[in-house]
Amino acid sequence: MLPAYYEFFSPVKIISGNKALDNLPFELDRLGVRRPLIITDAGVINAGLIRYVKSAFDSSNMIIGAIFDDVPPDSSTDVVHRAVEVFRHNRCDSLVAVGGGSPMDTAKAANIVVSENSDDLMKYEGADRLKSPVKPLIVVPTTAGTGSEVTFVAVIKNMQKKVKMSFASHLLYPKVAILDPRMTVTMPPFITAATGMDALTHAMEACTCIQKNPISDAYAFAAIQLIGKSLINAVKDGKNIEARMAMANASTMAGIAFSNSMVGMVHSLGHAAGALCSLPHGVAMSIFLPFGLEYNLNKTRSFVSELLLPFGGQEEFVRTDKNRRAERTIALVRKFQQKLYELCGLPRSLREAGVSETMLEPVAGHALNDGSLIFNPEELDYNDALAVLKKAYHQ
Ligand SMILES: NC(=O)c1ccc[n+]([C@@H]2O[C@H](COP(=O)([O-])OP(=O)(O)OC[C@H]3O[C@@H](n4cnc5c(N)ncnc54)[C@H](O)[C@@H]3O)[C@@H](O)[C@H]2O)c1
Ligand SMILES: [Fe+2]
Repeated sequence: MLPAYYEFFSPVKIISGNKALDNLPFELDRLGVRRPLIITDAGVINAGLIRYVKSAFDSSNMIIGAIFDDVPPDSSTDVVHRAVEVFRHNRCDSLVAVGGGSPMDTAKAANIVVSENSDDLMKYEGADRLKSPVKPLIVVPTTAGTGSEVTFVAVIKNMQKKVKMSFASHLLYPKVAILDPRMTVTMPPFITAATGMDALTHAMEACTCIQKNPISDAYAFAAIQLIGKSLINAVKDGKNIEARMAMANASTMAGIAFSNSMVGMVHSLGHAAGALCSLPHGVAMSIFLPFGLEYNLNKTRSFVSELLLPFGGQEEFVRTDKNRRAERTIALVRKFQQKLYELCGLPRSLREAGVSETMLEPVAGHALNDGSLIFNPEELDYNDALAVLKKAYHQ
């Protein structure tokens, strides 16, 4: 049944293909800018990826204004303010993020501060706080998971309060997302697996959360199918270009899906565990996903049943009794999780991830304040959240 009303918006130009990054100067020119600040991190620099960016600029009349490479995993307000100083000092006119969710979100947040001529990111926390257009931002994802390349949100940690804050505005969409397999082949198996499970969570939560709609479903289904076929191959052989391209496209499609239908309790629990226990986002998603699907099953059985087709394939779908398809989808997610554990040690439980059992209560408390909970199909109170966390700890 179609929703009585919905909205769908996805304004990011996507360029995908081998050597797609070479188009970067042309795209900047099209946007009328010529001195971008590149925002990246040490892992991306050490993987040697900035040379592709530099060589793309070599054959153009564009100038790299500066490179800010000091983004930690899970960026914070202090990092954003330091990137803003570098932008101003070097008279940059635009931003290019080269990295995973952390550099991409840092670039979005820095863009808020420079465009508003402000010195305090915190003034813009929450939704729709921006009133005028921001500087052009082009993103080059080097992980395949967050979907931040096509979303209007930046997730930034407040170190003092130990919370992950979101900054959301339709003005924050990147102008262009460039998916080039050269940028993801260097990702180690563990990060490939964790970020891939983030993309799978985006797609599966998009199909089950209360703002789901036929267009976000179409993107999410396509993403789930690609992840089901390609994530294990990308983890087994990082140089497999076909698998890397499939995962980059899947992450982007899942991002388009969830930025319209939103995500739910798996993300609420994950944001809280990320902020309080420094659990990497993708690891948290992988652990919580089957529990989130199970918890919501009374409201979402038919949707989770449908996911068996893209995730398990046609044969699996046909041979499974229609009353058991939802359980089978969840079982396949667990099988996937097990395979990733065997291939690269991706933790299956909070205990395996090194989270202390004493943190379960604070994480449950924090999760209730997370914005994603609004879009979860079922209500979730403190005791419910704690019960899920205990299962995810011991599983
Ligand atoms: N804005 C959104 O819509 C959105 C959605 C989901 C998650 N997030 C946020 O994104 C962040 C996580 O991003 P992430 O999972 O992409 O990880 P990340 O950006 O933190 O990167 C993880 C690690 O991988 C390394 N790395 C990245 N690409 C590499 C490559 N090609 N080769 C070698 N090493 C590489 C990095 O150097 C880093 O050490 C979290 O803060 C999360 O909250 C944002
Ligand atoms: Fe996510």
